[in-house]
Amino acid sequence: MFYCMLRSLNNNGKNLIRLAKASVSQRPWSCDTSSKLCTVCHSTHSTVPSNLRPITHVFQRHWTHQTTSYRCVGSTVRRKPLPSAFPVIDGGFQPVHKHVYEANLRNSLICQQKYLEHKQKVLKGGGENAIARHTQRNRKVLVRDRLRMLLDDENYLELSPFAGDGLPYGDIPSAGCLTGIGQINGLWCVFIANDATVKGGTAYPITVKKQLRAQDVAMQNRLPCVYLVDSGGAFLPLQSEIFPDKNQGGRTFYNEAVMSAMKIPQVAVVCGSCTAGGAYVPTMAEEAVIVHRIGTIFLGGPPLVKAATGEEVTPEDLGGARLHSEVSGCVDHFATVESEAYEYTRNIISTLNFELPEESSIQSEEPLHSSEDLLGLAPRSYNYSLDVRLIVSRLTDGSRFQEFKARYGTTLVTGFAKIEGHQVGIVANNGELTYDASLKGSHFVQLCDQRDMPLIFLQNTSPAPSHTFSQAKAESNTNRLKAQGSMMSAVACASVPKITVVIGGCHGSDSYAMCGRAFDPNFLFLWPNAKVSILAPGHSHALMHTEEEVTQINEMLEEESSAFFSTGRLWDDGVILPQDTRQVLGKCLKIIKQQVYQLSRERMRTPFLRL
Ligand code: COA
Repeated sequence: MFYCMLRSLNNNGKNLIRLAKASVSQRPWSCDTSSKLCTVCHSTHSTVPSNLRPITHVFQRHWTHQTTSYRCVGSTVRRKPLPSAFPVIDGGFQPVHKHVYEANLRNSLICQQKYLEHKQKVLKGGGENAIARHTQRNRKVLVRDRLRMLLDDENYLELSPFAGDGLPYGDIPSAGCLTGIGQINGLWCVFIANDATVKGGTAYPITVKKQLRAQDVAMQNRLPCVYLVDSGGAFLPLQSEIFPDKNQGGRTFYNEAVMSAMKIPQVAVVCGSCTAGGAYVPTMAEEAVIVHRIGTIFLGGPPLVKAATGEEVTPEDLGGARLHSEVSGCVDHFATVESEAYEYTRNIISTLNFELPEESSIQSEEPLHSSEDLLGLAPRSYNYSLDVRLIVSRLTDGSRFQEFKARYGTTLVTGFAKIEGHQVGIVANNGELTYDASLKGSHFVQLCDQRDMPLIFLQNTSPAPSHTFSQAKAESNTNRLKAQGSMMSAVACASVPKITVVIGGCHGSDSYAMCGRAFDPNFLFLWPNAKVSILAPGHSHALMHTEEEVTQINEMLEEESSAFFSTGRLWDDGVILPQDTRQVLGKCLKIIKQQVYQLSRERMRTPFLRL
């Protein structure tokens, strides 16, 4: 069997990806294009053999757009990569940089300590009392133990574990909900699991944001999604920040419908309370499992019934497992205990129409230098940045890197490499994003888009905008503006997967061109030393009138630019340690690739409806 992936632009200029399957007897590129011209093989495909099942992959949430042009971008499952022998880059330090390395290392160790403290803190969930109430009184399994039962192993990618920390309305451990991507029977699936030890699993604004981000990840990477629902619905004191707006509570259900129409499978396990809005999660999922005596689904619980009618009713009678599996039909599987529910879920995932390759044939060489060196290369500030090739040499297979335009626009490093066997294009800041560097960036991003190669951005942008002190400078800034605008367009419109790692600064417009959050990378991670703010701390004097204002703004920037402040607000997919970067990137690249193995019929026009 062969797979063809077809890409087209919709009428908003967004990319639309289509996949089709063809038999060996067909030409490798033949596919269901309904008389469309493939821009790779330049032939018109007008017929679809009856034994073929065309499939459509659409990366956009709004998928009802017309298509204009097509091209094949994938090929057979049994394909063999072309041999490559990219040159090994020099990863050695100059003795003159020793003091910079040591200063960075000292800073990284402090940042790492903060990271470990945050990790310890979130592992405690809602605290001892809440854990005792959850396990002893409510007889439920803790959320991390649930994941252990659901997933193949603990080798999952947790997303934004520190979200919810240090918010104006308090510390909400892991935003009251764990999200991530783990394997079930070998298939990567997004999980969204409420932690009921955090205020009964109720949804704070940050919880909603985290759930929506996880659904986005599922859509963008076409991953099945499993919801473990154990939630008291909206956290009422903050209802105005949860309920009315576009990207608030209702969006979860909107996404569920759109995901279903996009043929992204969704399974819900009711392993606790599904109150109010939470009740729609299992009801709108394709298949739902409920746990006897633990799972309940209702719009208004027993206290509301009592207040309205005076009637006393038990949660079990009002919306328990028997009622919903035997009478209402809101759920499809009745589990007597929690472990059985996760077994059901694993079996449901086996019924999804995916065929994974037998064994990963990807071979990869380890980098020639230790990943621990990255602690001394992670810049404590922009002035402490060393040549970014030193970082690249600790991330790529065999420390190999085929640099592109090495002598032009040298403040941006671009080139091809492999990470855990996956070919990628790397775009890395190595100074200011000048006119030349931006042109080079646009060229390289388009090249990777042409070649369907995922892009990795290593972001360390300049701490302040370039000021205009003369006419010549004004002209150079205008040129730079135009070139950066082009690079932003190239990045925004590149339809290949993008992963951004902020290795230093994330400041100003340079950060947009380097695929910041607003440019929709599939994943965005921060190193703990990263600084995220429009200006770096210490660079506001030209914009302020008095010393007092400068001091005030600097203090604010210092506090707000920390990676932990940023990740607490969910402006990224999590803080990762520099030495784990290669492994995280490798996992993300594997996850992104999985969509190639989904076998499915033409996209449905309507979502799944539980009638
Ligand atoms: N908003 C704000 N806080 C809530 C809440 C809500 N909707 N639901 C529960 N809480 C808080 C409780 O006040 C309690 O806080 P505390 O730890 O500071 O005392 C904590 O969450 C745990 O609640 P508790 O009832 O003690 O735990 P439980 O495990 O026995 O029950 C629920 C959890 C969610 C099933 C239960 O609290 C409940 O039914 N809540 C009401 C749900 C509801 O009607 N939601 C409608 C939202 S529109």
